[in-house]
Amino acid sequence: MIRCAETKDILSIVKIEKAALKETLGEKFLYQEINDNPLALYYVYELNREIIGYIGFRLDLEIAEMMNFVVLKLYQNEGYGQELIMYALNQLIKMHTKSISLEVRQSNLRAQYIYEKLGFKKSHLRKKYYKNEDAIVYIKEV
Ligand SMILES: CC(C)(COP(=O)(O)OP(=O)(O)OC[C@H]1O[C@@H](n2cnc3c(N)ncnc32)[C@H](O)[C@@H]1OP(=O)(O)O)[C@@H](O)C(=O)NCCC(=O)NCCS
Repeated sequence: MIRCAETKDILSIVKIEKAALKETLGEKFLYQEINDNPLALYYVYELNREIIGYIGFRLDLEIAEMMNFVVLKLYQNEGYGQELIMYALNQLIKMHTKSISLEVRQSNLRAQYIYEKLGFKKSHLRKKYYKNEDAIVYIKEV
């Protein structure tokens, strides 16, 4: 089941981020996003009462930016990530989003494959966006 993230999901989200990305947006930041930021849209994938993935966006004036997108390692490459991002994109489209952007590591071929499959186009590079690596900026015009 995919649903909006709630306060009770924050510890699971942090756990997933640490396991898959070795860093987290942090409990405090996530609490503020989920509870206090009207521009933030966060969704979790709940499977057998376990949070196995999450995705977050900020939507401002019809322009959305992806904040994070992670599936727990044990469940990666089984289709859950694509299900999750497609759900989120459909929600954004229903909210009349015109453009969606995201950054991805140049080495992250799996994520790039998914974004291109879903109609995102490579826009430009952000040099040293990550400590040791450039980011590719992808944009999807809706
Ligand atoms: C990126 C991520 C969220 C995707 O979720 P997922 O559940 O693993 O992805 P899915 O199983 O839905 O889809 C994987 C797709 O990539 C393809 N794929 C897998 N490895 C690949 C690779 N090395 N190169 C290209 N494509 C690849 C699979 O074949 C599949 O496509 P298909 O369904 O058309 O056959 C997840 O892998 C993850 O959390 N990765 C670590 C964090 C991360 O990189 N987040 C994105 C930050 S921008």
